[in-house]
Amino acid sequence: MSNIVTVIAPVNIAVIKYWGKRDEKLILPLNDSVSATFDTSVMCAKTSVSTHPDFVEDQIWLNGKEESFSNPRLQNCLREIKSRAVAEKTITEDVLSWKVHVSSENNFPTAAGLASSAAGYACLVSALAKLYKIKSDVSSIARLGSGSACRSVYGGFVRWHAGSKPDGSDSIATQIADSNHWPEMRVLVLVVGNTQKKVSSTVGMKISSETSELLKHRIQHCVPQRTEEIIEAIKNKDFSKFAEITMKDSNQFHAICLDSYPPIVYMTDISHSIVDLIHKYNDLSGETKVAYTFDAGSNACLYLLKHDVPKVISLIKYAFPSTSPENFITGLSVAKEEINTDIL
Ligand code: DP6
Repeated sequence: MSNIVTVIAPVNIAVIKYWGKRDEKLILPLNDSVSATFDTSVMCAKTSVSTHPDFVEDQIWLNGKEESFSNPRLQNCLREIKSRAVAEKTITEDVLSWKVHVSSENNFPTAAGLASSAAGYACLVSALAKLYKIKSDVSSIARLGSGSACRSVYGGFVRWHAGSKPDGSDSIATQIADSNHWPEMRVLVLVVGNTQKKVSSTVGMKISSETSELLKHRIQHCVPQRTEEIIEAIKNKDFSKFAEITMKDSNQFHAICLDSYPPIVYMTDISHSIVDLIHKYNDLSGETKVAYTFDAGSNACLYLLKHDVPKVISLIKYAFPSTSPENFITGLSVAKEEINTDIL
């Protein structure tokens, strides 16, 4: 077998947010979510994995620094990969007993609300699946690393189905539309801060699930309808509908964070100024031209169409004169590449 595999995996940013688990260990969500996967050329994770009879222990390096392999999520992913390899009879018992080495890097700030864990685990799991020649769906294995990672396994627009089975076998990601479906779609990431967030998504969503009444309302009365509507909007390339739902869902997610006890605050004054600016711009334009969405951090992700990119960049530079090129990760298109890009 080839014993080194390198894979690059893109970031995905949700337009219907995942927030809350019904099973912490299997990472089973309370609600369906929808996202767009970015083009790997600008924001991605890159992971190499290898296995060899001479390796004495499993080891992992993240951005050049060795981290502990005892992380339970990492262990769960490797265990599931190996058990699939056994079930699918893809490699010998001998090779299965060899230890693995993993080296992974991101080309964007880690844990600042830029979906680094999504790209990281999607990349790790896809690389391991390739190394162990797994043929079955890997989104459910990536999910064991980080819920949102299961959506980065596919390009284009992706839905993560919450599923209802206790073993999580139906909690998988599927593609809504491939990366060629809406070629005019662009995302603009505005880096407001690149420090690590105070409350991780994992901890934040646990607090919300335990304390927020609004979260319960969202799961029952908002997400099911929004999910169907945004999928329709994506299929019909109805940008203004897509944008409206995206912004409302981001706002509801942050409202839930505030409704949690103790409250969780991810957006900063600058994040809120971006929200104001986008609403003013859309109002003045007479149509919804830009959508913002914020994950568990202060950075803004703007969805817009290609022909509006130059104008919106000028607007942001005008509104925030101290903005430097490092504050922009610009002009990305929604994914052009699927994850399994073996670059070695
Ligand atoms: C706000 O996938 O990072 O980005 O499953 O605990 O690892 P864990 O959480 P994670 O949560 C992402 C939350 C979000 C919304 C989203 O991506 O859907």
